Amino acid sequence: MNGVTGRMGYRQHLVRSILAIREQGGVELPDGTRIVPVPILVGRNEEKVRGIAERHGISRYGTDLGAVLADPTVEVYFDAQVTSAREKAILAAIAAGKHVYTEKPVAETVSGAVALARAARDAGIRDGVVMDKLFLPGLRKLRRLIEGGFFGRILSVRGEFGYWVFEGDWQEAQRPSWNYRAADGGGIVLDMFAHWNYVLETLFGRVEAVTARAVTHIPERVDEHGAAYAADADDAAYGIFELAGGIVAQVNSSWCVRVNRDELVEFQVDGTEGSAVAGLRRCRVQHRATTPKPVWNPDLATPEPFREQWQEVPDNTEFDNGFKVQWEEYLRHVVTGSPFPYDFAAAARGVQLAELGYASSRDGRRMAVPEIEL
Ligand SMILES: NC(=O)c1ccc[n+]([C@@H]2O[C@H](COP(=O)([O-])OP(=O)(O)OC[C@H]3O[C@@H](n4cnc5c(N)ncnc54)[C@H](O)[C@@H]3O)[C@@H](O)[C@H]2O)c1
Repeated sequence: MNGVTGRMGYRQHLVRSILAIREQGGVELPDGTRIVPVPILVGRNEEKVRGIAERHGISRYGTDLGAVLADPTVEVYFDAQVTSAREKAILAAIAAGKHVYTEKPVAETVSGAVALARAARDAGIRDGVVMDKLFLPGLRKLRRLIEGGFFGRILSVRGEFGYWVFEGDWQEAQRPSWNYRAADGGGIVLDMFAHWNYVLETLFGRVEAVTARAVTHIPERVDEHGAAYAADADDAAYGIFELAGGIVAQVNSSWCVRVNRDELVEFQVDGTEGSAVAGLRRCRVQHRATTPKPVWNPDLATPEPFREQWQEVPDNTEFDNGFKVQWEEYLRHVVTGSPFPYDFAAAARGVQLAELGYASSRDGRRMAVPEIEL
């Protein structure tokens, strides 16, 4: 596991996924046997990696990725490094014959992502990419509604993602500074379009065209060491995505927005038979039969409490941590070959959408999304 000193690598992947899977006794397979992953921690800073290893009783750790990859008993390479460091490390892991699971985005460019997908295919390894949003309770309930035919014909999707990320001067920023530097792999389009692509294509249909506007609202921020830096990466993106089947999705992504929503991300889906608003945890619906009939009259105050007219979708099941659930699926896939659609090819489509989003913004154009040939 490379990059476990980082935010995602430590909390979501090491503690909440791999260690949690070990604590529960592994991942059970259909024949009753169990997969128990044994983590080896790799990082750039020996002291930091050792600290984590000691805190969690992990015996193997170090700074030499090559040495770990050369060990024939190691089966899976996991990457949660900064995006810009990923491609090279994954290529080395594939060359060493390891299966690979990685944070998104899988690479910074489509050509890089496609090269990884081809290398993985040619080496016959099992590749997977974190697509955590699909495993969130809110989106799983939304998926249940779609599969149950709740919406009738789906017309449109509206997504709102974001929150205020402090500039770092007056209050410390709550995200690492590399996210706001283009040269270090930052930028909200690269970060979030990778998510929106798999959410949209899995739930609604392939993205066929994108029109986007990426902007840098806040051009200077203050980093972890208190030094001001030029924040030249985009910190907000306003996108329109045309999906197969004629569905239009509009998604705003921003680190410069104050939250007036119930959750940090919300998707409203409108269909002929009903609508839903899904967030990270909750999902609320309004059926055609309970849809009010507002009449536009700016002279009168609206008497209807619109937000109260929606109904909560019950959980009806237990939702485990989404990162862990996806890890379990990936480990089953590695060991048994069970289907796992969240692979490098799917991730390459996410990077492609980001790249086309940037091109659209730069040129002020709607971009068709061609199918990627591997
Ligand atoms: N799935 C999600 O929801 C989600 C959310 C946030 C971030 N991410 C992705 O996870 C990855 C890590 O993000 P994070 O927020 O944990 O970042 P972070 O800055 O907290 O962690 C980065 C990790 O990479 C290591 N690293 C290796 N080379 C580096 C370099 N040259 N400069 C700086 N650090 C270097 C660091 O030591 C650290 O372990 C990114 O690719 C990001 O896109 C995914």
